[in-house]
Amino acid sequence: MIGTLYFFVLLSSTVAWGRVGLWSEGSTRNEAGVDAGDGCSCDAFLPSSTFPIGDLVAEEQTAGELSHKLEKEMDKLEDYEAKMTEYAEKIVKLTTEIEKMENNPYSYNDGDFQNTNVEIKQVEALIAELQLSIGGSTTVFESLRVQVTDMAATLNSLEKTYDKNQVLATRREYIKVQLQLEECQGRDQGIRHLFNSNIGSCAHTGLINLSQPIVTHLNAQLSPSYKFGGWGKDSKPRPDRESVYWFSGYTSETIDDMRFYTNYKNLMLRNAFQHTSLKSGWAGTGNNFIVRDNTLYYQINSPFALAKLNFTTMSYESRVVPKASNTISYAKSRHQNFDFAADENGLWVTYATEESDGRMVVAKINELSFGLEEEWLTSVSKPSVSNAFMICGVLYATRSLDSHTEEIFYKYDTNTKQETYISIPFERFQEKYSNLDYNPTDQKLYMYNDGYYVSYQLWFNHTATATVQPPDVVS
Ligand SMILES: *[C@@H]1O[C@H](CO)[C@@H](O)[C@H](O)[C@H]1NC(C)=O
Ligand SMILES: *[C@@H]1O[C@H](CO)[C@@H](O)[C@H](O)[C@H]1NC(C)=O
Ligand SMILES: *[C@@H]1O[C@H](CO)[C@@H](O)[C@H](O)[C@H]1NC(C)=O
Repeated sequence: MIGTLYFFVLLSSTVAWGRVGLWSEGSTRNEAGVDAGDGCSCDAFLPSSTFPIGDLVAEEQTAGELSHKLEKEMDKLEDYEAKMTEYAEKIVKLTTEIEKMENNPYSYNDGDFQNTNVEIKQVEALIAELQLSIGGSTTVFESLRVQVTDMAATLNSLEKTYDKNQVLATRREYIKVQLQLEECQGRDQGIRHLFNSNIGSCAHTGLINLSQPIVTHLNAQLSPSYKFGGWGKDSKPRPDRESVYWFSGYTSETIDDMRFYTNYKNLMLRNAFQHTSLKSGWAGTGNNFIVRDNTLYYQINSPFALAKLNFTTMSYESRVVPKASNTISYAKSRHQNFDFAADENGLWVTYATEESDGRMVVAKINELSFGLEEEWLTSVSKPSVSNAFMICGVLYATRSLDSHTEEIFYKYDTNTKQETYISIPFERFQEKYSNLDYNPTDQKLYMYNDGYYVSYQLWFNHTATATVQPPDVVS
């Protein structure tokens, strides 16, 4: 507890950042400083009244664009700050509850203790998520550094043409700016990941690790019996629905409704803005559905087929896949014959066929025609798999190692038709799960774990692309 509270203090001291204005024309002051207090301000003024500022117009524009980019990132920081405040309140509340329990343990039953325990786990997980969110790699600072290096080169060439003394003065300012950037960076290493620009990129050689499970909800619809379902975000959201989350769950494998929430907070508050019941003829099964382009893709059983329900138009379609088996399912679940997935490359469905003795087939779906474009036969047997998902055209299959450990043990790359047995173990919160899917818009894995909404941060192998790509702020 103390650790997490300390972390809160640390983070809130970093969110009070100033704007970056590296080059401010017309000022004769020589200021380049870190501001007072805990915040890191990146303001710097150059002595430009006599300096040939015209030659620096390009730099100035670049700095302006960087500043704009940072402003956008500041908004994200505010979100994080709001989250931290929320978690801090939760911690205070929990601390009070636990104190009460300590003072009078006999008036509480096992259920109370368990609930509190779960709540603590949840807050810890939420904070771990934030902590992780702040530990990535590609940073705006790296990009800033590149910009600053470029400016240094420009100054070098100017040095040859203009008054040396003047240039030396400017140079000193430049050095101060760089020191100051370093100080910002050192002080706020944590912020780096907020500037991560790798979303949507497949410039990696695959998944290498998962975070601890991050628990968002404990009991779907406040009922422990809602063990079947799924939750997540639209993987190709319509422009006005980028922060929307969805959830569908039930006491059996049946899919008969879908709820939408405007944002994460409303998801947590179970405050849906849209609740659509599926007409009786449209009900689905198996819970390996996904939502993409405001459209639900799922399995139906009469006839046994793929189904597509576009919530924008409420138009419904189905497609029979003649070779797909309606009996071969995942290891621990019935009726999970079709499993939908979406990634950077589009929409996919996996299934097994009788003619291949239950080996998994990966098929690419054309989203508009709803036809299968291409198929790949893998050598992994569907009944040995717990669930599967796609990232960058690569199928990843999981299996259970023990009651709390899951393992990604197999991958099949549709780009190269290569398959590999791997071992990426990760922690599971509860025994079973009915839905596991990657989302390319935030590079997270979403799991519906016996009624718990769980997600994971993912790490990819970037070693093959050793040169860091600066964020696209200048192009
Ligand atoms: C993978 O992530 C977990 C946290 O979930 C961490 O404990 C573990 O050390 C990581 N493994 C590797 C090989 O980086
Ligand atoms: C759903 O309907 C809307 C409105 O006609 C359309 O723009 C969109 O492409 C449809 N989505 C899919 C996946 O068919
Ligand atoms: C990362 O990818 C490189 C190049 O493909 C490979 O040599 C290395 O073993 C990979 N690392 C992990 C942890 O998978």
